[in-house]
Amino acid sequence: MDALRDRRDRTRREIVQGRAAAVERQHRQGKRTARERLALLLDEGSFLEVDLFRRHRAQGPKMDGARPATDGVVTGSGTIGGRRVFVYAQDFTVFGGSLGEAHAAKIHKVMDLAVENGAPLIGLNDGGGARIQEGVMALDGYGGIFRRNVRASGVIPQISVVLGPCAGGAAYSPALTDVTFMVRGTAQMYLTGPDVIEAVSGERVTHAELGGAHVHGGRTGVATFVHDDEEGCLADVRHLVSLLPSNHLEAPPSGPARGAEDDLRPRLAEIVPAEPHRPYDTRLVVAELVDDADFMEFHEDWAPNVVCGLGRVDGHVTGVVANQPTVLAGVLDAAAAQKAARFVRFCDAFGIPLVTLVDVPGFLPGTEQEYAGVIRHGAKLLYAYCEATVPRVQVILRKAYGGAYIVMDSRSIGTDLSLAWPTNEIAVMGAEAAVNVVYRRELAAADDPAPLRDRYVADYRDRLMHPYYAAERGLVDDVIDPARTRAEVARALAMLRNKAVPATPRKHGNIPL
Ligand code: HXC
Repeated sequence: MDALRDRRDRTRREIVQGRAAAVERQHRQGKRTARERLALLLDEGSFLEVDLFRRHRAQGPKMDGARPATDGVVTGSGTIGGRRVFVYAQDFTVFGGSLGEAHAAKIHKVMDLAVENGAPLIGLNDGGGARIQEGVMALDGYGGIFRRNVRASGVIPQISVVLGPCAGGAAYSPALTDVTFMVRGTAQMYLTGPDVIEAVSGERVTHAELGGAHVHGGRTGVATFVHDDEEGCLADVRHLVSLLPSNHLEAPPSGPARGAEDDLRPRLAEIVPAEPHRPYDTRLVVAELVDDADFMEFHEDWAPNVVCGLGRVDGHVTGVVANQPTVLAGVLDAAAAQKAARFVRFCDAFGIPLVTLVDVPGFLPGTEQEYAGVIRHGAKLLYAYCEATVPRVQVILRKAYGGAYIVMDSRSIGTDLSLAWPTNEIAVMGAEAAVNVVYRRELAAADDPAPLRDRYVADYRDRLMHPYYAAERGLVDDVIDPARTRAEVARALAMLRNKAVPATPRKHGNIPL
């Protein structure tokens, strides 16, 4: 037994002792080793390592002599807040964290265990991609990860954390998972690195400019969450896990009830100005809606004209989608539609109810948007809402115009309950624009069109642009006092708690990707 204990200890410490320089370099860069990261991520003492003794059997250049423990990845299981998760953590100090046959087989094993045990999978990525010396075996290993990512999609939450390079094919696994965390300064993701780019096209770019956290957090939307350091990042991964169910058959973990059904929030009427064009930060509205103003925002810097994230309402985890009037007046555009669509599908896959806060002037007009495929991307959001079977509550705060009204979880695409504030405007378009179209001839013929226009505008507002027009026709279920928004949403979600919609028999729908 002493010999066994010795061997285990030696194997575990092998990296630290044998690769001191690499570990020191890792620390100098503000990065931690795989085991240090797992210690931060998991509950103390909960880590159960799998494949401790596994080593590679490759014979490529520089491989014959070196058969280090871990083969560049530490795998196993542990708990977060007492709940089981499966993990792999790449170790840059061994073969640069590159992925060969044994490395891939270790990851495949924990992925299979995660699905079979219905527990989240968390991958900590820090490596150089396919291990060049192992040739096609490395590529085959990646294919096995991708296939498992897809099979596990919508079955268990899959969380990618990028803490160093994530180059080449390696980048596709995070892209296939539910969310991706990145750390500023140390994490990079790209398909082809700066050297190859320069050789092919002469273009010169740094690793950070090409695929740093700010690029993927703000421009591409590849990163869902961006952090300044590993501690903050891994703490946030723990927080996300606390909001998610272990698998699609379980409900998300609920917190204590807060008596939200009687909670009055008079501040809401102050936050949202009555004038339809005056901006306000929708996150202040969300803060009044969720328990303790505690809201985990997804894609904070990408497509900020729509805000998406998770919070609890009366203890129950809830997804919130909200137009953001401080950015582009809150219009929808191609990027916002993609962001919200992905979030809606994520919530639907994991049984998280959706609350949609609507204050939207329409879709962003212009050739840039049309050429960017706003039709195709807007269709994603429509599709995502139309197919979502989780409880859905729409709250129309101020204005809801045109196609954007339909897309933002209107009654016609299947919201369960639509609530509207008394001051709001639901219409095909704003009053001035509508009058210019409908009364164009009358206005052109008038000697003094201004007072006539004012009259037409007032008439249009009186007849069409108030929530009772929609409420009389059943498109709004109730008109509510803004101060009662949290209370009414909590009551609606409680009413819908047991909602069940049988799936339509088919192989799968064909979402416009
Ligand atoms: C084998 C690798 C490696 C790789 C790094 N190393 N990447 N070994 N295969 N892919 C080794 C280095 O040789 C070095 O070994 C050690 O890891 C540390 O690497 P450094 O280059 O010293 O580190 P650094 O300067 O920090 O640069 C990190 C890096 C760079 C940016 C990741 O190493 C790099 O560009 N690597 C190649 C990336 C790449 O092109 N990968 C293949 C992608 S193609 P020693 O012994 O010196 O310590 C791909 C296809 C998959 O992934 C397709 C699936 C669809």
